[in-house]
Amino acid sequence: MSMAERTIRVNPNNIAGMADPVPILRRLQDEDPVHWSPEGNAWMVTRYDDVKRGFHDRRLAVSRPMPPAEIFEEEFRDTYRAYASSLKTWMVIAEPPDHPRLRKLANRGLTPSAIEGLRPQIAELVDELLAAMPELGDIDFVKSFAYPLPASVIALLIGLPKSVLGDLHRWSDDIAKGLGAAGEDIIRPPAHAAAEMTAYLTEFIAARRKNPQDAIIDQLIAARDDDETVTTEELIGNLILFLFAGHETTMNLLSNGLRTLIRNPGQMADLRGNLEDTAVVAGTVEEILRHDGALFMLTRFAAQEFEWHGRHISKGEKIYLYCLAANHDARKFADPDRFDIRRADSKQHLSFGYGPHFCLGGPLARLEMEVALPPLLRRYPGLSLPVGDVPWRNNMSLRGQPSMQLRLGEGV
Ligand code: HEM
Repeated sequence: MSMAERTIRVNPNNIAGMADPVPILRRLQDEDPVHWSPEGNAWMVTRYDDVKRGFHDRRLAVSRPMPPAEIFEEEFRDTYRAYASSLKTWMVIAEPPDHPRLRKLANRGLTPSAIEGLRPQIAELVDELLAAMPELGDIDFVKSFAYPLPASVIALLIGLPKSVLGDLHRWSDDIAKGLGAAGEDIIRPPAHAAAEMTAYLTEFIAARRKNPQDAIIDQLIAARDDDETVTTEELIGNLILFLFAGHETTMNLLSNGLRTLIRNPGQMADLRGNLEDTAVVAGTVEEILRHDGALFMLTRFAAQEFEWHGRHISKGEKIYLYCLAANHDARKFADPDRFDIRRADSKQHLSFGYGPHFCLGGPLARLEMEVALPPLLRRYPGLSLPVGDVPWRNNMSLRGQPSMQLRLGEGV
């Protein structure tokens, strides 16, 4: 073990809000690829091959221990219990045999043709949002575009009315707090949000059962009622997951991606010159996913003890798989920090995970980006960033900025 290996020390809480966490993650890759952080109480895994393997290695579990209700004050215990029981139904943290069973149900609704079928409606939403934006001046891109688009699309996908969008933002925000933070003190906002979402969806599903329509939610309800291998509680839990998973992530991807394009004028010019070329647009989206992603990392727990790069992992220990680091690993991608929309192997990024829990919404997130970018760039030929770095969200898992000042154009 070299000196460097013994001396490097990285706290995942501290890199959460960094404008550019890649250099420090790269040091981990080179010096201590399976790094123990006492402050984070977790292993930090950063090399491409290891992160990829971590996603499908059964020694790493997705299910997580939840603290007992008794540690909380009495008034909160029922809400907490309901939250813990909802989380147990989320496929993203479910193990076999539950996981394939839940995923199968979701696959009956989120089919490629159902997603592709949303293309015209997404294009309409994009046009509406663009029409509401001024021609010149500064806006907050997150507020005007990156937030409302994915939120509206996911509501559309599931079949929820537009009137729920305001609440949806608050709920997703609060659920996100629970995912990217350490400690029990942060469990209240997500627990209350999940309770409100459950109440809303319970009522909504009851009404739709009586009066079915033709959205994915109706197919999911029908699929559940047909074979009854999934409970209504499981259906609701996974709808909460969709609402959340399809929202903050895509929002981050849109704003991170636009920022990177603006900061790379050569690439922006190449894209602007080829907006009709679907392969170039799709390649740009893939490179944005690789270069910027929307997530730092995903959490796993050791299901058993094992050795990894000479480190002894004990059963139950937390393991962070840094997809952002993997996507910038020079062992995998040539000149990895270079943003290159023509890169041939961008698609091998790990931004949607890998293996059994591979993102179910990947095709939808890609579609949203592919539909949104061309009209946005056509309407605004001179986009720029008027201020330097705005603070990044202080979240260990989600990587994005809560707001992004964007200059749409200068007056003459
Ligand atoms: C840029 C956008 C997105 C990113 C970066 C992203 C990323 C991810 C990642 C990394 C995973 C794997 C989690 C793990 O292995 O622990 C995942 C799973 C998942 N994603 Fe996404 N996602 C995005 C958009 C969406 C959308 C739009 C939806 C909803 C329609 C969605 C639904 C899901 C679901 C349901 C899972 C769990 C799959 C399973 O456990 O089998 N995601 N996502």
